[in-house]
Amino acid sequence: MDFSKFNKIIEGKTKVIYENPNDPDTVFMLFKDDITAGDGVKHDILEGKAQVDWQTNRDIFEYLNRCGVRTHYVSSPEDKVSIVKKLERKINLEVVSRRVAAGSILKWGTGAAEGDRYEPVITQFHYKDDPLHDPMLDDTYIEYMIAAKNSIEYSEARRINAEVFQHLERAFAAFGVQLIDFKLEYGMIKGEVVLIDEITGGSFRLWPFKTDKPNMNQANVLSELDPAGRLDKDVYRMGGDLGAVRDKFGAIAAITARFKELDV
Ligand code: C5P
Repeated sequence: MDFSKFNKIIEGKTKVIYENPNDPDTVFMLFKDDITAGDGVKHDILEGKAQVDWQTNRDIFEYLNRCGVRTHYVSSPEDKVSIVKKLERKINLEVVSRRVAAGSILKWGTGAAEGDRYEPVITQFHYKDDPLHDPMLDDTYIEYMIAAKNSIEYSEARRINAEVFQHLERAFAAFGVQLIDFKLEYGMIKGEVVLIDEITGGSFRLWPFKTDKPNMNQANVLSELDPAGRLDKDVYRMGGDLGAVRDKFGAIAAITARFKELDV
């Protein structure tokens, strides 16, 4: 498709959204080779990333659609291009769920140690704004907004986050890796909260199991996992070279390509 003839709706850090002239209810989502970290401060072009992210995202969303999750994903008509449902409005939140303590939660002074396991998963809302570093919203306030204002944006996003976590954790575990945490985004379509955006190597942490039969039924599961073998964007965030980052993203795509083998 020649997108130079299409109307561009918005260009983000890793994707461009174009109008679909043949269907007002959907839009085109094009993946870019850009990779960013630190709220966009660190930025590189990683040749081939668009293709690999497109594949990973396609395979994850097709799996989630098969699982019955309400998502914006429709189809992928050609390389690096997906069709998604058009939003009434975007919800300006990053919704993070964690099974295992890693990353920023170790730094806020919560007392969490790397590898602490959360059962059920914990979910936190961040207001999406790079200059403000995506500040986290207070849980008590969220409860109030749900109870007093019936804010389905929060209640539904939290419910869907937990549901998606269960599905993806199970899927990745079938290939010997633990889903540590992830960030998802939501929008409104026909008055309903719907999973949107992309789910790719930059959206989650994935640590390989150390053994064939890890014991995940412990308060801290670090001994069961291999964080040094991580398959995610932390390799880039931690300063790994772009070749290593490309290998990791390729390894993720090789796993998600097999999600179609899974029963739901
Ligand atoms: O950095 P932090 O530990 O809060 O990240 C939690 C999860 O959310 C990680 O999987 C990370 O990749 C993801 N994340 C993201 N986009 C951000 C912040 C975090 O995808 N802006």
